[in-house]
Amino acid sequence: MQDKVWIFDTTLRDGEQALKASLTEEDKILLAHTISRLNVDVMEVGFPVSSPADFRAVQRIAREISGPSICGLARAVSKDIEACGEALRPAEKSRIHTFIATSPLHLEHKLRMSLDDATEMAVKSIKLARNYTDDVEFSCEDASRTPFDDLCRVVERAIDAGASTINLPDTVGYVTPDEYAAMIRHIRNNVPNIDKARLSVHCHNDLGLAVANSIAAVQAGARQIECTINGIGERAGNCSLEEAAMILKMREDHLRVGCDIRSEEIYRASRQVAKICNMPVQPNKAIVGENAFAHSSGIHQDGVLKAQNTYEIMSPETVGVPNNQLNMTSRSGRHVIEHRLSELGYQKSDYDMDSLYESFLALADQKGTVYDYDLEAMIHFNQITDKDDFYQLQFVNASSNSQSIASATVGIAMGEQLKQEAATGNGPVEAAFLALERITGKAVDIVEYNLDATGQGASSLGQVDMIAKYDGRRYHGTGLAADVVEASVHAMVHVYNLIHRAAKVSSLKQQRKAG
Ligand code: KIV
Ligand code: ZN
Repeated sequence: MQDKVWIFDTTLRDGEQALKASLTEEDKILLAHTISRLNVDVMEVGFPVSSPADFRAVQRIAREISGPSICGLARAVSKDIEACGEALRPAEKSRIHTFIATSPLHLEHKLRMSLDDATEMAVKSIKLARNYTDDVEFSCEDASRTPFDDLCRVVERAIDAGASTINLPDTVGYVTPDEYAAMIRHIRNNVPNIDKARLSVHCHNDLGLAVANSIAAVQAGARQIECTINGIGERAGNCSLEEAAMILKMREDHLRVGCDIRSEEIYRASRQVAKICNMPVQPNKAIVGENAFAHSSGIHQDGVLKAQNTYEIMSPETVGVPNNQLNMTSRSGRHVIEHRLSELGYQKSDYDMDSLYESFLALADQKGTVYDYDLEAMIHFNQITDKDDFYQLQFVNASSNSQSIASATVGIAMGEQLKQEAATGNGPVEAAFLALERITGKAVDIVEYNLDATGQGASSLGQVDMIAKYDGRRYHGTGLAADVVEASVHAMVHVYNLIHRAAKVSSLKQQRKAG
């Protein structure tokens, strides 16, 4: 039996499909680089047939990322497989992942076909996919609610047709670890050609068992875990990558299998996913939660000081939690910033030093001391603001007090033109948003607005995450500043730039169609 468990990350597919606003191409590229640095074996990065934007993002990732195998999802129909194969063409290593439901419930009510017909579709699709790549994965959707004998029949045919990975998802997060392990054992013992394929598991977390089920399946012989960073995904989410990987690493002695994940990259990847996907991590989340390494009770603190392993099974550094907080001020030079960022796990290619240093000095002047978490927040913020953005915030002046109506004036550069508008509102944020609406001439619906503090105490930065709807589409804007009104305006300007970009893309498409 193979002693390595493959880690198949599906943050950009199963994770992304559950977000309130889809990620932009830039967000996906940024996350794809981060995921590949975790050293995953396979990364599923989209569903190319689902939209031209998804096709383009998969194609770009296939072109830019080397190392892991780049995978796309396809239903068991020709047009999906062809779109997937085309999008993955530039990849150094590619995998097509095709699936069809096999449970009586899905066959009868969703697909309205027999198991035999579904099997034929699977076989045809796998053969078609093999024209594009040797690496084809087949999933029996809702496998955990499929009778064992039916599963054995489909799996044997799928392997014969050329699938080298067989995935048996617990699509609805229903089974318990012993039931799931029994299913894996049954397949291993009853499918004659099973030695020609790697068995994979894909667990959803509806009953909070996704990680436990994945590990039980590994103990029963599965050798690939499909998972997402922070466990994001449909409904209650998927198996969490960081938990599964750390169980494999910390308990290799017991499980007798390991994985190749670079654990020091975990914390940063988790923070980036939380920010970009607008899905905060709960404080008590295993491995990456704010409290995962915090000791509160006096007895525990005393124990850890005497011997760390009394109450800590792994050190925060193992998963990349920064262990020292070096304070930086406006006197700190670029090399100090660069050095600190490399200690935090960032590479030079992750940021543009000129614009980062400019933001750093502005913040240092405002706050005095700049901390690690400020630097990380700035990197993210600089990555999403682009010098080529159409709307560039020049200034915002807001005033409010308990006796009068709040007002705000906002100045925006739009190409060569500088426009400013003033407005009043129930609060300074509303006033600033109204001023922006007058400048852009576009009224958006705010679906969600979250204000958070990045850092500690009164000197922390305000971070705004918002979802806004315009013309039937949702956009995710983020903003960061010492002042919360300014952070809100940055987030709204981010939204307006995304709307502008989307309009440009669709007018280009129309021109191409017409021409
Ligand atoms: O949950 C599921 O069954 C899936 C399949 C497409 C693998 O996501
Ligand atoms: Zn899934």
